[in-house]
Amino acid sequence: MSGLVGDGASARDCELEVGPPPLSLPLLAGVRDGYERWAPTYDEFPNPLLAREERHVLPLLPVLRNRSVLDVACGTGRWLACLMAGDARLAVGVDLSSAMLRVAGEKKDLFGKMVQGDCLRLPFRTSTFDFLICSFALGHMQDLRSVAKECSRVMKPGADMFVTDLHPEAYAKGWRTGFRDQRSAVHVQTVPHSAEDILRAFHAASCACVTHVGLCLGEAEQSIFAKAGRQQLFQTACRVPAILFCHLKQVSKAKAYRRVL
Ligand SMILES: C[S@@+](CC[C@H](N)C(=O)[O-])C[C@H]1O[C@@H](n2cnc3c(N)ncnc32)[C@H](O)[C@@H]1O
Repeated sequence: MSGLVGDGASARDCELEVGPPPLSLPLLAGVRDGYERWAPTYDEFPNPLLAREERHVLPLLPVLRNRSVLDVACGTGRWLACLMAGDARLAVGVDLSSAMLRVAGEKKDLFGKMVQGDCLRLPFRTSTFDFLICSFALGHMQDLRSVAKECSRVMKPGADMFVTDLHPEAYAKGWRTGFRDQRSAVHVQTVPHSAEDILRAFHAASCACVTHVGLCLGEAEQSIFAKAGRQQLFQTACRVPAILFCHLKQVSKAKAYRRVL
């Protein structure tokens, strides 16, 4: 089981609270170094957080046929592949990590669909996309307002945006974005953001909140814990809101202004 939390998974995260102390402290890695090391195994192990997120987001995806879609911080292209399956006219992923993009590029359908870049300076024209997803990445970004501004800039007015991240309550309980490989446990540097911080940043960038919700792990994720031999941690993990999901909509500046009034 791989994961975005603890020393390799949400189950392992609970180990920080209820299990024996870790033998050695996890290495804290910067984003580029962390994903350089994580990339080769990122897709390899089932991850309960990604599974729970997909369970929530998949049914909410809009019809994408002939639309232009952007996967911001696409990593190994998990969502990009899914968006492309929806017959989008233009589907693009952008990510900072060349290692993650290399893994994505090895997937037949994704080759040539990604570009290396920073969310703070998206390499796209203004008002290009009809739909955007940014999954489990905001926590790596300190300057939320600049990210929100860039995302908003490249979206067409009225476009939907789905943003997910590790829930701040989970972060407060010690869950971390990270993994374990043969050498050690690694945590990738993150900054927790509250829902209010995220919504405020996007609102300032002319994006209205359609809905936001905290998602807990559920029975569907139990088998991932069981296969990892972490069954005993499952119930505890389920009690913590694990994922923050926000649905935002790009609104024109005039409309956003009117809403505030
Ligand atoms: C946990 S991974 C998520 C990948 C993918 N969205 C998914 O859900 O599987 C976080 C990704 O964010 C990327 N990232 C972090 N900071 C970034 C930035 N400033 N600009 C672009 N990508 C960034 C990392 O390189 C990494 O691939």
